[in-house]
Amino acid sequence: MSKIRIYTLAKEVGVENHRMLEILDGLGVQYKSVSSTIEEDTVELIKQILAEEGTQVTGGQVEDVSPTVDAAEPGTGPTSAPATAAQPTAPAVTAPPEPAPGQMSSEGRPTPPAATATQVEERPAATATTELPHRAPVVTIMGHVDHGKTSLLDYIRKTKVAAKEAGGITQHVGAFEAQTSKGRIVFIDTPGHEAFTTIRARGANVADIAIIVIAADDSLMPQTREAIAHAQAAKVPMIVAINKIDLAQADPDRVKTDLTQLNLVPEEYGGDLVVVPVSARSGEGIEDLLEYIILTAEIEDLRADPKGEFAGVIIEGKVDKQAGVLATVMVQQGTLNLGDFLVVGEKYGKVKAMTDTNGGRIKSAGPSTPVQVLGFSEVPDSGEKVVAAKNEHAAREIVQARASDRRDVENARVRSRLTLEEMMGS
Ligand code: GTP
Ligand code: MG
Repeated sequence: MSKIRIYTLAKEVGVENHRMLEILDGLGVQYKSVSSTIEEDTVELIKQILAEEGTQVTGGQVEDVSPTVDAAEPGTGPTSAPATAAQPTAPAVTAPPEPAPGQMSSEGRPTPPAATATQVEERPAATATTELPHRAPVVTIMGHVDHGKTSLLDYIRKTKVAAKEAGGITQHVGAFEAQTSKGRIVFIDTPGHEAFTTIRARGANVADIAIIVIAADDSLMPQTREAIAHAQAAKVPMIVAINKIDLAQADPDRVKTDLTQLNLVPEEYGGDLVVVPVSARSGEGIEDLLEYIILTAEIEDLRADPKGEFAGVIIEGKVDKQAGVLATVMVQQGTLNLGDFLVVGEKYGKVKAMTDTNGGRIKSAGPSTPVQVLGFSEVPDSGEKVVAAKNEHAAREIVQARASDRRDVENARVRSRLTLEEMMGS
């Protein structure tokens, strides 16, 4: 009767989820995630704190928490809420909690309520000039071969990516931008075949969130464990998607039990791992998965400056018979423009042409945008950092400086080996 979900309250009083979690931390209130419920007296305390801060509290009616929270909350949506991200006078509030590596918390609820999460595109604009704009989450799809990663992505994008691949096996990392009903999400597909360990590791490193896809008829397999280890090593929050639940032989419970063996305890077993049953074939559960991605992204509070210095990473590089060297670059901060000079390792190039992931020609790309760039003379290595240079001269200087640094390190190594050999009298 007197409980309310954290994100519902956040939405009602017009503050962002991460701010609400900060306040709860300051109060020492225990919670598992933004979908956890809090007591009425805590709600009153929060409202007092916000009132002291000068936040205009709108609505905030304590409501029943029924298994299916109503999506429609007229007048309390993010657009009507006051933008109150600024918090210069936050009293006695601790920093937001670090999510445990590789895990995302959530309360034991098999399906998240539809459409109650704040939509990324509709966030109130940051009021403080020091606050950077939000950016879309970069989500890496990982898991064992044939567990349905590409099919899942394919369903989300409503394209036929899996069908177009030679032999149906993903051989490289592909980045795709999806405009979902819950906001923009950037997905990176990775191959599940055992030969592609490095690609999986790189995929995990550029991700904000990792989706571990596990087929319900196969459960945990070697590359599932490997993918989990990569996500944990990269300290990326993880969501498990149990796929192929449409199959007669699907056994999602076995997958959950097997996960507990790895110390990853699903929320319904009392842990804090979010596990979403889905079918890439029927589409079941995929809306819930997207909802959890957006909720996780909100907690991570992902921001980047489109006007800042450009930084990116190579997702993949290849030679196209007609076009020449093509590199997929993920813009991480700043803006990439046609004509910019880019440096990757000891290689540089000029952006002669740029396309988005749907093949459309574009002139500039902001944070969390994967773009295909034409203009490198050699194929850049995936996973490498990309920086921009003012002009060709500056690009060449960066390359030369890096080459000379590398030679210095190599020479130092040779010298120390020689000294060691002298000392050993050989
Ligand atoms: P790799 O990229 O090679 O690691 O595979 P993948 O994980 O991307 O798997 P992919 O999407 O290529 O799917 C493998 C096979 O499983 C295909 O035959 C799909 O049609 C099938 N499949 C994928 N998802 C589902 C599902 O939800 N239900 C059923 N019944 N089949 C599925
Ligand atoms: Mg695939």
